[in-house]
Amino acid sequence: MIQTNFPLTNYNTFRLPAVAERYLALTDLQQLTDPAFQRAPALVLGGGSNLLLLEQVPGLTVHVQLGGVAPVAAGAFPAPGRRPAAGWHRLPPVVVRVGAGVDWNQFVRFTLDRGWYGLENLTLIPGTVGAAPVQNIGAYGAEVAERIEAVHVWEYGVGPRTLLPDDCEFGYRDSRFKSEPGRFLITAVDLRLNGDHTLKTSYGAIQTELDRLNVQQPTPETVALAVTNIRRSKLPDWFFLGNSGSFFKNPVVPLAVYEKLRATYPELPAYPVDAAQVKLPAGWLIDRAGLKGVRHGAVGAYQRQALVMVNYGGASGREVLAFSEHVQAVVHEQFGITLEREVRLLGKTA
Ligand code: EPU
Repeated sequence: MIQTNFPLTNYNTFRLPAVAERYLALTDLQQLTDPAFQRAPALVLGGGSNLLLLEQVPGLTVHVQLGGVAPVAAGAFPAPGRRPAAGWHRLPPVVVRVGAGVDWNQFVRFTLDRGWYGLENLTLIPGTVGAAPVQNIGAYGAEVAERIEAVHVWEYGVGPRTLLPDDCEFGYRDSRFKSEPGRFLITAVDLRLNGDHTLKTSYGAIQTELDRLNVQQPTPETVALAVTNIRRSKLPDWFFLGNSGSFFKNPVVPLAVYEKLRATYPELPAYPVDAAQVKLPAGWLIDRAGLKGVRHGAVGAYQRQALVMVNYGGASGREVLAFSEHVQAVVHEQFGITLEREVRLLGKTA
């Protein structure tokens, strides 16, 4: 049933006040045969964790609440309680189909509880399973695309389709679902776990945290614990402090630009992308521009991770946008680099 003037404040992790002109909870695939799904709604809402909402969202907002977790090819699953002598890193692959509306972190916990491995570095990321392929969520050296077998979609005006990884054009925080907005609604995702699994512990602070925990032989569970501890120490919990995670993407720049900056800032971190480009941490640039912990009214750059814009309570989308534009201007002024928003801006002011 479509509702009108539906408040979205509790459905976006920034906790920005916004009202959907029309709102529909999508709980059943059958609903997709409604003529409303011949074309894309204004907003397909998952966990609302990557959104910057202005006051009014005109048109139809569809809140994806499709649940369900099921094995694909059940024969491939190891018998309960039996683990091969070879250990966790040689467990046979399992493929799990997950409804788009399932909470990502709850699903990650669910897999770890069952001894299905591969998502441990992506623990504690807010949002839903259906949103994960859209921006190819990634953290601590892992990306969801590495685990995707298939993405089940509703193609507006066409019907149900299954896209294979090659069809999805995955990139850094990018996919076809982003470059062709308004074409597909993700209904479920098939994820492949186990197999020839190796742990990723070399990124960032993982190894340091494992050392601190006195873990000599890491397992997927202890890596998940390390990631949880690191995220909790740096990233604000949206439950208490509204935010949308990384507000900007890490900019990818030509090697020559990096070399020039490094002459002035020898400690500037950089991650290789290819022979000609590197990725620079936007958080470092914002921090170094003196904006870490800076607050304008109810909005600010978080004091422990400058890339995260936070709502200290009562901020409007317009205020967050204004502050973020200030950050972009200051960073551009100092480094000549244009920061691109990672969060999606939507709606209009009254
Ligand atoms: N840094 C600073 N000051 C800051 C923040 C960062 O100097 O205020 C420096 C750090 O010391 C480090 C570098 O910048 O040298 C990178 O920082 P960090 O490891 O925290 O990662 P990030 O590049 O800022 C990315 C993702 C995060 C993800 C982490 C961990 C993007 C845009 N963000 O952040 O993803 O959790 O790596 O893998 O790629 C998200 O997308 O919402 C998100 C939180």
